[in-house]
Amino acid sequence: MPDGDQHHSHTPAAARDEAGPGLVTDELVQLEIGPVAHGGHCVARYDGRVVFVRHTLPGEVVLARLTESAPDAKFWRADAVEAIEPSPDRVPAPCPVAGPGLCGGCDWQHADLSAQRRLKADVVTEQLRRIAKLDPVPEVVVEGPDGDGLGWRTRVRFTVDTEGRPGLRKHRSHDVVAVKECLIATPDAAELGVTQARWPGALAVEVISPSTGGPLVVAEPVAGRTGDKLRLPKLPQGTNLATRDESGVHQVKGRTWVSEEVVVAGSPRPFRVTGTGFWQVHPAAAQTLHDAVMEAAQARPGERALDLYGGVGLFAAGLAEQVGVTGTVVLVEGDSRAASDARRGLHDLDQVRVEAGSVSRVLPRLATEGQPLAEGGADVIVLDPPRSGAGKDVIAQMVALAPRVIVYVACDPAALARDLATADAAGYALSGLRAFDLFPMTHHVECVAVLEPRDGRPEPREVPVVTERAPRQNRPNQARPSQSRPARPARRRN
Ligand SMILES: C[S@@+](CC[C@H](N)C(=O)[O-])C[C@H]1O[C@@H](n2cnc3c(N)ncnc32)[C@H](O)[C@@H]1O
Repeated sequence: MPDGDQHHSHTPAAARDEAGPGLVTDELVQLEIGPVAHGGHCVARYDGRVVFVRHTLPGEVVLARLTESAPDAKFWRADAVEAIEPSPDRVPAPCPVAGPGLCGGCDWQHADLSAQRRLKADVVTEQLRRIAKLDPVPEVVVEGPDGDGLGWRTRVRFTVDTEGRPGLRKHRSHDVVAVKECLIATPDAAELGVTQARWPGALAVEVISPSTGGPLVVAEPVAGRTGDKLRLPKLPQGTNLATRDESGVHQVKGRTWVSEEVVVAGSPRPFRVTGTGFWQVHPAAAQTLHDAVMEAAQARPGERALDLYGGVGLFAAGLAEQVGVTGTVVLVEGDSRAASDARRGLHDLDQVRVEAGSVSRVLPRLATEGQPLAEGGADVIVLDPPRSGAGKDVIAQMVALAPRVIVYVACDPAALARDLATADAAGYALSGLRAFDLFPMTHHVECVAVLEPRDGRPEPREVPVVTERAPRQNRPNQARPSQSRPARPARRRN
């Protein structure tokens, strides 16, 4: 339907904010839906203006409620409330709280699982074309783990409302939707009674279902309170219970950590993860990403490898097996608890060194401070930054170390595309890309990108020093690099 054919339906009696001449937020409009866009929505146009529409699919004609429609806004947002001409990929959402105005956790419950993967492939392709300026863009196939896309989330953080009820947030809102069960989560949250219980004084409660051993529940008090003041409900026998506040993770019952297992070089290996520390969320994710990274890295015996944003050591363990006892792996992790879990978990691997600190601060120090990098840079760099990506400064630092290969694990294709553009300008081009559907029903997609020097391997250069704020515990990515100043030069490779 052309723009001009789009029409207003009747305005609901309780019309809200004025959104422009003759149009109010909450008004229903009919829209013809165009392509998918990054973020779990599709693009439509209304009077020439871009509208990002949720709960719809490309090619549909829908009745949509405007949810953000300020007259001077560059684009508007809307929720499809009725598919007038539905897509053949549309299915009934399995979850009763998925849909307009309800839980904001899932984006694609109304799409067939294979269609979800095609949408994600389209999003990755579009980001690589538009932001990374790749031409041509390599074919993107989103590989998926087995299953129906439900019951996979091994970590669920429930926000607790003022009545002490755990729930999930609405999309782009602080409002909490009380839920008895989250269908994409493993059944633990419901079976342990976490969602039925009351958590007075808590800000959030997280349920962690590890691959081995019993589940861990971590309650977080409202700001300014300490965990020991929380009134906690009784949970079934065998459930580990802890609190987490500004001073750390505190034991209430059982362990404050969980054990996760991944097959590394043919043998199962345990990884220790304290409290709500980072671990891949889908039960298949850690193994899938570990294997994809090892296949891409192909580190050789004796090489120097870096595992940046290394968490508790998922990739460092495999890299250590590849480089062997004559090689070196340096894991850099900004969260001190995760770094100490990595030290404990990898203590049997003498070739691994764990550096706690922000990547952009640690790299210049490693490059000047003697072994292993000062003797000629790094051979293999694996990085797995948070959603915002590595950023220009860290890309410049990595390129200065002149690795023969960079393996970039990315949970946000836009941030990946920005970093690829920076790396490309510095001589490192994309040579391989895999994408994985490790967050079914949501818009999230995980990529593993391989970068190699375009014109042969360069010599290592001085690693630029950047000034940034110290990383915050568990949320170190708040740090924002700023000014650069020169560092002492790294010694050159012979
Ligand atoms: C996406 S997780 C990846 C962890 C690990 N590679 C894994 O797969 O289990 C990102 C990690 O980077 C850490 N991090 C975030 N910003 C950082 C920074 N500026 N410097 C170092 N580590 C950082 C986080 O604490 C987190 O452990």
